[in-house]
Amino acid sequence: MEKEVLIIGAGGRLGQELVHLYGPRALAWTRSDVDITAAELTRAKIAALAPRLIINCAALTAVDVAEHYPDLAFKVNALGVRNIAEAAAEVGADLVQVSTDYVFDGQKGAPYTEEDPTGPVNYYGRSKLAGEYLATRSWHRTYIIRTGLLYGRFGRNYVQAVIDDLLAGKPVTVAIDQVASPTCTSDLAQAIQRIATSGRYGIYHVVNEGRASRRQLAEAVRAAVSRWFPEVMKVPLRPILLAEAGKIAPRPRDTTLSCAKIAQELAVQLRRWEEPLPEYVKYYLEHYWSGRIMGD
Ligand SMILES: NC(=O)c1ccc[n+]([C@@H]2O[C@H](COP(=O)([O-])OP(=O)(O)OC[C@H]3O[C@@H](n4cnc5c(N)ncnc54)[C@H](OP(=O)(O)O)[C@@H]3O)[C@@H](O)[C@H]2O)c1
Repeated sequence: MEKEVLIIGAGGRLGQELVHLYGPRALAWTRSDVDITAAELTRAKIAALAPRLIINCAALTAVDVAEHYPDLAFKVNALGVRNIAEAAAEVGADLVQVSTDYVFDGQKGAPYTEEDPTGPVNYYGRSKLAGEYLATRSWHRTYIIRTGLLYGRFGRNYVQAVIDDLLAGKPVTVAIDQVASPTCTSDLAQAIQRIATSGRYGIYHVVNEGRASRRQLAEAVRAAVSRWFPEVMKVPLRPILLAEAGKIAPRPRDTTLSCAKIAQELAVQLRRWEEPLPEYVKYYLEHYWSGRIMGD
């Protein structure tokens, strides 16, 4: 079968989900297939493949690492993206560049729309914003998909960390003033697939609907886990302020995204964040804590 879709960053949380969704139509490139910071190699490999669509999930996503090594963050998240966009332009492939809610400063106090001014507060956000700019400047057939707080069956994520602590009986420290739209990678991947066939290039916010502080998210996780392990309700959630969390990079406080644009213009709507969460908790428990699960 012809490989019409190229997924770059295919070994990551979202990349693996997309590989699963597109199946045999997709070619999956991990970092060992192409280092996107190598401009000539990236260009030559994409030119040889000439895909119809490129989805770039490759990024330096560790926010504190990016703060420590801003040059590296820009090399991957901005210049690497430019390399891909220029190669996409050369072969005439549509490009999906996945971006982040961290392009905002988190001070708005209401869900961010695509028209809101950006203002990243850390180097991860700045490098991703530069990537958005370089992608759209290099190639007009680019979709920028901003998303936030991902969890899913591939790779480590925040929800897993909460579950692991709960089942170990360890109190879970939760920031009450860090708010986002928790998003399940399978819902996001399906939305990306639909948006990428629209031909309506531009910036889109794509998250599960609604908002949750880390405390609210951890409470929802604990309630879901308690269906199988009632004892976790006794494990305390310790509320803290973000400033007390001892993170290297500053975090934006409330990066809830509005998805009104995809709903109105593309008729794409994701579920509220509370819906997929229990399904995912069940999946994680079955796969990583199996043997301790007593049945439905
Ligand atoms: N995770 C979230 O909560 C979140 C939130 C908002 C937006 N996003 C965005 O969503 C996208 C996907 O995120 P994710 O969570 O799936 O990321 P991830 O799990 O960290 O995966 C990123 C992948 O990129 C690869 N990579 C890093 N540097 C590379 C390079 N120079 N060349 C080629 N590949 C390279 C990594 O390979 P190695 O494993 O070998 O390093 C990794 O497999 C990113 O654009 C991210 O900014 C994520």
